[in-house]
Order: sequence, then structure tokens, then C-alpha cells
Amino acid sequence: MRADGNPLKSSTFRLSALYLLFFLLSTIALLGYIYFNTVGLLQRQNEETIGAEVAGLVDQYGTQGLEGLIAAINRRIEAKSPMLFMLADAQGAYLAGNLHTPSINALPDNQWIDFAIRLGDADGTVGHQVRGFNMQLPQDYQLIVGQDVEDLNQFLIVIRKAFYWGLALALAMGLGGGYLISRNFLRRIDAITDSSREIMHGNLSGRMPTSGSGDELDRLAQSLNEMLGQIEKLVQGMREVSSNVAHDLRTPLTRLRARIEAALRQENPNEYKTTMEQTLADSDALLSTFNAVLSITQLESGEQRSNLQVLDAHEILEDVVDLYAPLAEENHGALVLNSTPGLFVRGKREIMAQALTNLVDNAMKYGESKSGGARIEVSGIKQGQDIIITVSDNGPGIPDSDKPRVLQRFVRLDESRSKPGNGLGLSLVASVANLLNGKIILKSNLPGLRAELHLPYAAPDG
Ligand SMILES: Nc1ncnc2c1ncn2[C@@H]1O[C@H](COP(=O)(O)OP(=O)(O)OP(=O)(O)O)[C@@H](O)[C@H]1O
Ligand SMILES: [Mg+2]
Repeated sequence: MRADGNPLKSSTFRLSALYLLFFLLSTIALLGYIYFNTVGLLQRQNEETIGAEVAGLVDQYGTQGLEGLIAAINRRIEAKSPMLFMLADAQGAYLAGNLHTPSINALPDNQWIDFAIRLGDADGTVGHQVRGFNMQLPQDYQLIVGQDVEDLNQFLIVIRKAFYWGLALALAMGLGGGYLISRNFLRRIDAITDSSREIMHGNLSGRMPTSGSGDELDRLAQSLNEMLGQIEKLVQGMREVSSNVAHDLRTPLTRLRARIEAALRQENPNEYKTTMEQTLADSDALLSTFNAVLSITQLESGEQRSNLQVLDAHEILEDVVDLYAPLAEENHGALVLNSTPGLFVRGKREIMAQALTNLVDNAMKYGESKSGGARIEVSGIKQGQDIIITVSDNGPGIPDSDKPRVLQRFVRLDESRSKPGNGLGLSLVASVANLLNGKIILKSNLPGLRAELHLPYAAPDG
């Protein structure tokens, strides 16, 4: 099933349509304002000119009577005035002027009037709009002064047309542009959708396509890709762990089974007892492997990160050394501590003690020198913003080429096969270091191994 790729339904398109709507509304408002103001201004000018002309003529009539008025009108016409005049008597009979409207009686008195006239030109006659004032003079003479507003009207028509075309163009470009942008956007979303489907169907190494433009979609794809990389690494880790666990448990389980089978063939009750005891020891070893794997998994999930607290690592070093020193002496070796209080780190007592125990355990197991038991030194110092906890021995150490490898799960060096172990101890130390934002560094103690756990210093609360 695929997402509906209709650009018209996309949010990009809806958004651009909304913008377009606002754009059009504000354009209409602005242009409308300009248009009506222009029209108003032109009409007012027009009316003022006509009004002045009417006033002048009324004045003439007042001072010089009808004769004077007619003469004044004729003078204006001869002087090629742009105005139109008409003077009629009470019966509507035409007295003077250059304007002929037969229905002058029907026109309302003392008001602005709009009417059409026909003008002759080379091709016949054309209609023109006239705006004028119909003035009622004493003795019912009627004076009309008007002006041909055809040019003005044509001008307004042109403006209106430009206005409509502009709006239509903006609408078409807005909708078309919105459509194209949405289609382009949807194509990229579809590409991302396709990739995620492919990844969901098992191709964990698949990645989201990026256009290289660095825009928000690219950034989204990039962070998704980083996430996918992380997931792929985790899944790979899980696969390795499960195959390693299966592989590692098969040998002890087969041995256990063989031993029980052999014991069943015997009748000797003492033999049963030894078998049971060995079986118990074997199951303990199996359980400890499981526990170690579970602890590492839990540490790596980062769940514990929320309940860390500031504590003094020195106290943990003391506890571990106190616990293991007698054992070291029993094995003809020594375990000494070299640290002072004040090694504050943000951590958790149990997991830090576990990590330290693993390092001490390794030193005791593998750190024996040819001259006798393992001589182990545990130390803690503050260096810059780091707390460095070191466990060093004088044994054979680990070759440089194997140092990165031994931190992985289930890795044991060939020389150590004779000793018990699962190869999980150092992995757990690495997981603890990772959880506490620190790191584990394996160095040479010349001779021997020097395991350093670097943790960030944390100022104690209060
Ligand atoms: N102090 C050391 N000196 C020499 N080799 C070491 C030392 N510590 C670790 N190693 C080598 O690194 C390997 C991995 O160590 P790690 O602690 O992870 O596993 P392990 O000790 O074999 O088993 P586990 O700790 O699970 O009981 C060991 O098997 C050993 O070969
Ligand atoms: Mg170990």
C-alpha cells in the first residue's frame, strides 16, 4: 500500500493555497482602495470643473439676462471649450449650446445627470458617456453643462481589465506553482516512504535518499539515516550475541549431557554423587554466563542512566581490594591499593564494583608472573577533569594487536583457554565505561597489563 500521492491533497499545497488566498485578498483590498480613490478623485475634479462653469454661467444670466447667457455660451463654444452646453426654455425648446438631448424635460432638475450622446466620426456615430449638471434657472430656463467622460471611462476600463488579469495571473501562477512544489515535495516523501518500506522488509542496510540540498527534508533523512545506522549496529550486535551465546553454551551443555549419560550407565551411587556435583557446577557456570550477558544487555540499553548519582570511587576501590586481597595472598601474590578519597564520579555503586571486580579477577587469573603469584596494584587518581582507575599486573599482558578485540563479547585469547571464563568480563567493563560516559583503555605495564578506566569527574552535590 502506498501513500496517496495526490499533490492537491498535500499539506504543502493546502498551505500555498492558503497563502495565495491571503495574497489575493490583500491585493484586492489594495488595488480596490487605489481604484476607488482614483475614480473618486477624477470624478470630483470633473464635478468641480462643471460646477465652476455652471456658477460662471448663472452669474452671466444674473447680470446680463438671457441674451448675455446665450452670448457667453456661444463664446465658450467658439473658444473650443472642452465642455458641453445646452440651454432650453420652459417648453424644452433649444436656445443655445453644442449638446442636443431631446428629452431634456424628463431630466431631474438641479442634479448631477449621466447620459449618453452620439458623436459623429469618420466611421459613423459612436456613443459617449457624458456627466453633467442640470441647472434650473429662473423662468424655467434649463441649463445643462456637461463633460465627455468617455476617456475617463476608457481609462477606468483599462485599469479594471489590468486588475482582473493581474488577479487571474496571480491565481494561476499561485495554484500552478503550489501544485508543482507539492508534487516535487511528494516525490521526495514517496522516495522516503519507499525506502522505509524496503528497510521494513528486511534490508537493514538501506538508507533514506537525500537530495544534497541540505533542506529540512534532507536533514530529516539524515537523522533518520543516523538512527538506522544505530539500529543496524544494534541488530547486528544482537545477532552476534545470540549466535555467540548459542555457540558458547553448546559445548558445556554437550559435556553436561555426556556426563549424565555416562553416569546413568553406571550402578555406583558414589559415581552418581560426583556427577550431580559436577552438573551443579556446570549449571552454575552456565547461569553466570547468562547473567553476564543479561547485565551487559541491560547496561547497553542505557536504562540505568537515569538513576546515577555522584559517589566517591575511592570507597568502591577500598571495598573491592579488601574483598580480594586475602585471595591474592592465598595465591602467593599481592593486591595493593593506592588512592585517596575525593574521586567523585557520577555512577552507580554495584555496576562500578562489578567492573572493578572483573578487572581484578582478570589480573589474578592472567597476571601471574613467572616468579610467582600476581602482584596487582589498584589505583585511583584525578587527572584534569578525569578520574582514572587503574588495575595493573606483571603478567604476560595482552599483545597490542589483540587489545581492541578482547573488549568484544566472548573473545578469549588462546593462551587463556586453560583458565575458566566466558570472555565477557572486559565487555562488561566497556559497557559500564560507556554508560558512565567514560572509556576503558588497555595499556602495557611493561610487563603486564595496565587497564585504565577513565570516568568524568563530577563535583559532589552540596
Ligand atoms: N590481565 C590480563 N592479562 C593478560 N590477558 C588478559 C588480562 N585480562 C584479560 N586478558 C585476556 O583477555 C581475554 C578477555 O578477558 P575477559 O575478562 O573479557 O574474559 P575472560 O576473563 O576470559 O572471561 P570472564 O571474564 O567472562 O570470566 C581473556 O580471555 C584474556 O585472554
Ligand atoms: Mg575476565
